[in-house]
This record gives sequence, C-alpha cells and structure tokens, in this order.
Amino acid sequence: MIESISQKTNRSAEEILTTGLQKAVGPRVGMACSFSVEDLVVIDLLRKYAPQTVIFAIDTGRLHEETYEVAEALLQKYQVQIEWYLPQTEELQQLEREKGLFSFRESLENRHQCCHIRKVEPLDRALKTYNGWITGQRRAQGATRNSLEGIEIDKAHGNIVKINPLVDWSDEQVWAYATEHKLPVNRLHNQGYPSIGCAPCTRAIKPGEDIRAGRWWWENPENKECGLHRR
Ligand code: ADX
Ligand code: SF4
Repeated sequence: MIESISQKTNRSAEEILTTGLQKAVGPRVGMACSFSVEDLVVIDLLRKYAPQTVIFAIDTGRLHEETYEVAEALLQKYQVQIEWYLPQTEELQQLEREKGLFSFRESLENRHQCCHIRKVEPLDRALKTYNGWITGQRRAQGATRNSLEGIEIDKAHGNIVKINPLVDWSDEQVWAYATEHKLPVNRLHNQGYPSIGCAPCTRAIKPGEDIRAGRWWWENPENKECGLHRR
C-alpha cells in the first residue's frame, strides 16, 4: 500500500519536509494531528517552513479530555484553524445500537470495525481533499513502524505523498524540542502515556515497557495499528 521513495536516513526534519512538500502534486497538504508531542513538534516546524499547511484531526468521539485541551491550547498559541473530521453518524449509531460502547474489547474483528468507523473512514474522507499528508510517526515507535521512511507514496490514498519528518527522531530529541519551544504538551504524557489514542484503548505503561504497550494493551504487539497507516 505504501511505496517508499526515500531510503536515506538521518536527514533533518526540515529537509524531509521541504523535499516531501515539493513532491506533492497540488497545493493542499494536510498535517494529521492527534495532538501527541510528536505532532506538536511537527506543527511548530510547519509554522516555520510551510505555514500554509492545513492541520486536520479526527475526532473519534472517544478522545481524552486532555487531548481536547491540547487542541484548544494550539488554537491559542498559533491562531490556527483545525479541520475536524468526525465519523459518519449512521454507521456509528448502528454500531453502538447493535454492539454497545465497548465492542472493541471483545475481538480483533470488533476492534477493527470500531477503528474503521471512528478513524479510518474519516481519514479516507479527509485525504480525498488533500494532495499530500504529513504525520508525526517515528521508527522508534516500535515493531509496526521500524521500516517507516521519511517520504512515502501512499497507494492506499490515491498515490499522494506521505511525509514523516520525525522518522529518525529519538524520544529524547522529541522531548528536548518540546521543552525548548514550550509546546503545550498533553498532560497525559507526564502520567506514563508515551502514546495516546482513544481513551478506552490507551493506558499508562510501566517503566521499561514498549512505547506503544499501552495502546490496545490486550492485543498482540503486531496488531497495534488501527488502519490509519496501512503499509
Ligand atoms: S495510531 O494509528 O496508532 O492511532 P498514533 O497515535 O501512533 O497512530 O499516531 C501516529 C500519527 O497518526 C500521528 O502522528 C498523526 O499524524 C496521525 N494520527 C493519529 N491519530 C490521529 C487523529 N485522531 N487525527 C489525526 N491524525 C491522527
Ligand atoms: Fe474504537 Fe478504540 Fe479504535 Fe478508538 S482506538 S476507534 S475507541 S477501537
């Protein structure tokens, strides 16, 4: 689904961003924002190198209060607009009426169904309007991301360019940048949540655990993706 067009490593985030943006066939490029510390770093870089980039976010309806607070803090800090995308009402109504509010705990199939309705379909809808997209993904985020490249062609979304400027960054680099630039980081990061998704599917990790161990913690590590980043 994803074709890599950049095998080089250790390029700066700025270089990946500017090269990637040149490859976007058209002007409308979107930064997919989950309000994680990584995404705040990317947004701060974009203010310097590509301020025309649109910031978009998927409101799954199950995000933490703390995450919504970061969204508000971003509005205050940069006076940016966020293009929110929500799940389709009919499908969500049907899911909740038929299977209740915690069906994702019952089976991998049910979890994928919930992720599809709440995240994947809204993302697919969003990306139909963009010529390229940017994420805060990093290789250091674990088993499912260790072959990530800085610039990729996203075949699952009409061959648009997908840019991961922080691909080579370590946890320490991300946090050093966030601290130096006083970014309004999610309070949950300081409570043991290195990776934050939907509230019922995210928990704090113990010291030494994998960075994504708190995501869908009841599942095997190789399943810890929701389908946003089909590779
Ligand atoms: S996930 O696929 O497991 O949920 P993760 O939380 O690690 O993804 O985030 C990886 C990247 O996906 C983020 O840096 C961001 O670019 C994008 N992303 C994740 N969740 C959202 C969301 N709710 N809205 C917009 N983009 C998101
Ligand atoms: Fe549903 Fe959990 Fe996926 Fe969020 S992370 S869409 S609540 S299964």
